[in-house]
Parts: sequence; structure tokens; C-alpha cells
Amino acid sequence: MSLNAFSLANRVALITGGAGLLGIQHALAIREAGGIPILGDIHQDALEKARALVGDTCEAIVCDVTTKQSIENALEEILSSHGKVDILVNNAARNPKVEPVPETRQDGQPERGGLTIFPGFADLTVEEWNRDLAVGITGAMLCCQVFGGWMAAHGGGSIVNIGSEYALIAPDQSVYRVEGLAEEDQPSKPITYTVVKHAIVGLTKHLAVLWAQKGVRVNCLCPAGVEQNQSTGFKTKISRLIPMGHMAPPDHVRGALVFLCSDASSFMTGEVVAVNGGRTAW
Ligand SMILES: NC(=O)c1ccc[n+]([C@@H]2O[C@H](COP(=O)([O-])OP(=O)(O)OC[C@H]3O[C@@H](n4cnc5c(N)ncnc54)[C@H](O)[C@@H]3O)[C@@H](O)[C@H]2O)c1
Repeated sequence: MSLNAFSLANRVALITGGAGLLGIQHALAIREAGGIPILGDIHQDALEKARALVGDTCEAIVCDVTTKQSIENALEEILSSHGKVDILVNNAARNPKVEPVPETRQDGQPERGGLTIFPGFADLTVEEWNRDLAVGITGAMLCCQVFGGWMAAHGGGSIVNIGSEYALIAPDQSVYRVEGLAEEDQPSKPITYTVVKHAIVGLTKHLAVLWAQKGVRVNCLCPAGVEQNQSTGFKTKISRLIPMGHMAPPDHVRGALVFLCSDASSFMTGEVVAVNGGRTAW
């Protein structure tokens, strides 16, 4: 195999949650490898800002992954302008930031003193459970059904489901604790996040096997916590959990994403690839 196999020349890629922090990074990576990234996101305003960062020629589609009709509309729009779709990056998720909230945050989570509030397990409601699963796992399943189904019927493609270190391990809640807050006010990474991310591994493996002979490869890419404007205390605590000793830069999964999208990984399906400074190695 030549290293040209890493090229994504003329490959059309939909990135769900494309207006978010990592969605933009995926788009930049795909574009740099020669591909045609299309940002799909529920937030029109965020999409406009993201397009400006990726480049004005980057296409964007308003799409709600929790609604099958919306995903079918996105596929139709892509087919009418490009005639095909080669890559699906299932990236949309409600990604609870239990640290100071970045400016790009758009998902309407309530905030208190710069922290996003998430209920501890004892207080979790079924509505909150359903809301998080609807985006992160039902949404990913529906996108696979619509886009992967099209790929399976039209010669194949590559699906990259975005996991997390919490697809592989449970959160150590001690890193999210804030000194001086009452016990009942302590932030915690919600169980829905761990459940969604572990489920996406199951989705990946099941569909990888289902479509192995249809040319549709399905892999899971697990990024690490990205360093942003978190408090020094948080960064120090989480860095102790990472053998390499620091959080991830925003562009840390670009190389692995291109690899999984491209023919360079053509004999690879159903795999879970972690890029996390060794966090899940010890
Ligand atoms: N940022 C990290 O540190 C980190 C670490 C590990 C894994 N991840 C994973 O990477 C992915 C992206 O994370 P991020 O930090 O960029 O998150 P983000 O919150 O910045 O972006 C998520 C995007 O999804 C969109 N979205 C929400 N609901 C949607 C819906 N119903 N339909 C379509 N779009 C919807 C939001 O508008 C937002 O633009 C997530 O799957 C997350 O779990 C992130």
C-alpha cells in the first residue's frame, strides 16, 4: 500500500455536530487530506461561525440527528450536490463540560458560576437520561441507518463513530470536584455520558460485522479531554491520570481521523482507537 492511501481526495464527508469544538477539527483534517467536509449541526448560528473557521467554501447543513427525517433531508441535499457520500463522522453528542464553559457552548445547559450543572445519579430524571441518549446514541444509530444504509447499497464507505476515554473507562469523579462547594452542589460527569460512549462501541462493532462484506467500514475513534479554559486545579488533577502528563490539544485526533476515513485503514473495521496520552493504558 502506498502512502497515497491516506488521501481523501474528492471524498464527501458529513460530520455531525460539525459546529462544535472537535467537529471543526475533523473538518479541517478532512479538507487538508483533500476531502470535502460538510458540517451538519442543529445550530444554524454556530454553523456559520464554524464555516468561517474551516473556510467559507465549507458546506453546512442544519440537521437534527435525533430526527430521522432531518437526517434523510441532509442525505438528499448531499446527494443532489455531490451525487454520493463517502464518509460519515458521527460526532454529535451532548458533551457535558463540568469545567468553565467555553464561549462556543450552545446546547442550552444551565450554568452556575461558570460551571455547567449536571445532576448526580441519584437525582437524574428519565427526561435527562432520554435527552442525552437521544443525541449521542440514538442519533448516531439513525445517522448510520440513513447514511450507512446508502453506502451499503452504493459500494461502501467509512463511518467513524466518535467515542471518548469514557467509552473505555468510567470517569474518576474526583477530578471534577470543586473545593468549597457543598456536597450536593459538586459537579460530576453524568452517567449518560459513560453509557452513550460505551454504547457507541457496541454500535460500531455490530454494524462493522453487518456491513463487512458491503464495503462499509465502521470504526470508533476515542478522543481525550481537550485543554481549553479549564481551571488550573482541574487541569492538574486530570493530568495526573494521563501518563503523558497533560490534556489533549484540540487537533489531537486529526491524524487518526484521516487514517480511519481513508483507504490507509481499508482492512480495519469494528476497531476502537484511543488517542489519549495513554490514559486508558494503566
Ligand atoms: N471535547 C472533548 O474534550 C472531547 C473528549 C472526548 C470525546 N469528545 C467527543 O467528541 C464529540 C464532539 O465533542 P465537542 O467537545 O466538540 O462537543 P461540542 O459540544 O463542542 O459540540 C457538539 C456539537 O453537537 C451539536 N449537536 C447537539 N445536539 C445535536 C443534534 N440533535 N443534532 C445535530 N447536532 C447536535 C451541538 O450544536 C454542537 O455543535 C462528542 O461526541 C464528544 O463526546 C469530546
